[in-house]
Amino acid sequence: MDLVVSILYALIFLLTIISINLFRRSPHKNLPPGPRPWPLLGNLPAIFNSKTPPHVTYANLARTHGGLMLLWFGHTPIVVVSNKAAAEEVLKTHDKALSGRHIPSNLNFSKEAMETSLVWSDCNDYWKQVRRLLRTEVFSPKMLRIQEGVREQKVRELVEFMKSKQGESVNVRPAIFGTVLNVLGNAVFSKDLYDVVGGKGDVVGLEFLIRELLVIGSTPNLANYYQFLDRFDPQGLRKKAFARLQKVDKLWEPIVEERKRERKMNKREECKDMLDVLLANNYNDAEINNIFLETFGPGSESSSATMEWVMSELIRNPPVLARLRRELDKEFGDSKVTGSRLTNLPYLSAVIKETMRLHPTIPFMLPHRAVETCQVLGYTIPKDFQVHLNAYAIGRDPEAWPEPNTFRPERFLESDIDYQGNHFELVPFGAGRRICPGMPLAMKNTPLIVSTLVHEFDWNIPGDTPPEKLEMNEQLSIALTKDPPLCLIPKLRRVVS
Ligand code: HEM
Repeated sequence: MDLVVSILYALIFLLTIISINLFRRSPHKNLPPGPRPWPLLGNLPAIFNSKTPPHVTYANLARTHGGLMLLWFGHTPIVVVSNKAAAEEVLKTHDKALSGRHIPSNLNFSKEAMETSLVWSDCNDYWKQVRRLLRTEVFSPKMLRIQEGVREQKVRELVEFMKSKQGESVNVRPAIFGTVLNVLGNAVFSKDLYDVVGGKGDVVGLEFLIRELLVIGSTPNLANYYQFLDRFDPQGLRKKAFARLQKVDKLWEPIVEERKRERKMNKREECKDMLDVLLANNYNDAEINNIFLETFGPGSESSSATMEWVMSELIRNPPVLARLRRELDKEFGDSKVTGSRLTNLPYLSAVIKETMRLHPTIPFMLPHRAVETCQVLGYTIPKDFQVHLNAYAIGRDPEAWPEPNTFRPERFLESDIDYQGNHFELVPFGAGRRICPGMPLAMKNTPLIVSTLVHEFDWNIPGDTPPEKLEMNEQLSIALTKDPPLCLIPKLRRVVS
């Protein structure tokens, strides 16, 4: 036992010396400023000891150290971007140099697997090809129009479910999540994955597996902080993720096989979903599996969490809800909300933008990596450093936003700022090469679901909590979600035709 303790002390001593040397003798000059790192631990104590979640802690640190700040996670340097000026430099001026991906140790399976990943590869030829296909065929305006009827059908199922729950307290999260999953399932391979109406939930097991994978992917991992541990997979996270991935592939194998048969029999001449497009463009099974997973993974939780935040802000701000209802009543009266008529509703659009400014559901985006050394705002970002963009801090930067913590959609009626990647003070979907490819679909779904719920139902908070006291704590796990989940009592407001 004594020997073990002595070896442990010796190891800690050695690592401390290495760390001190590493921080002091960093070969890189002119790095961005940041809090002083501890030997061995870097800035981990400041982050893990903080009472606030990481996105808020980083935002607070950035107030002292600036919009471009360097943090050390153990031995790993991370550049954090927290304001508009730095975001514009990273996502526009140096977009090419800074659009590589850092692959977390938790998911770093093999070079080949990562090179054909839409999410984790650098911007290589394969990535460009898939992104082009998504833009021009899968989420093109034409395809989104073809699928509009199905989206509306899925929303009617959500309405049926809410009607059946009138007078009861409903956790809106799983209902919205299930609707989003079904919209995605239909956009991807024309299948439902969730029983919304019957309330049975996840019928194929995909939700469970995706959640497990996302949780594994975002679990703090020592190997991410100390590179030399990477090969040992010390927490077994990579092993766990790999096992789940194989199960997910099995889930859609029969769907892909059935579709291949249908195509051989010329039953699907027109491309009606993502699977048709991928098969028509000769993608193989492994590539199709990857693209499916990388659609459901980033696309499901982020979308449903956004809608839960929109509903929460509306409930907490009755005058905003009333104004939105006036806009919807004028447009739709006693008819149901339809996607094609949602394009010119400025207040609805302002409510969604304002919610995404305050509650970006992927607050750190996905980790970028410098593929070459570059100079940003006079500081050096060396090749292979990670760059994390804090959309939460950017959206609440007092330099860019008056009264940054106040929910006031009206601010967007007076400005042309939007989230499409041209205004760097509002980047809930990112910007530049890595901007979210699912944005066109997400921005069809969100207004359709939110406005239907607002137009057709009154919503009450269970108990006697006044609206302005609705708890709005944030929890950062897979996405940035409301804690506790939003529970409301629906009451039919109007019967629509
Ligand atoms: C409100 C909903 C959504 C939000 C807030 C959101 C946000 C984001 C953000 C911030 C990124 C990272 C950008 C970066 O690293 O610079 C991202 C990437 C991505 N998103 Fe979304 N997203 C949403 C919905 C979707 C949907 C519906 C899909 C698919 C159908 C999707 C697919 C992806 C993919 C594949 C990536 C990785 C792209 C790449 O690395 O090249 N997202 N999203």
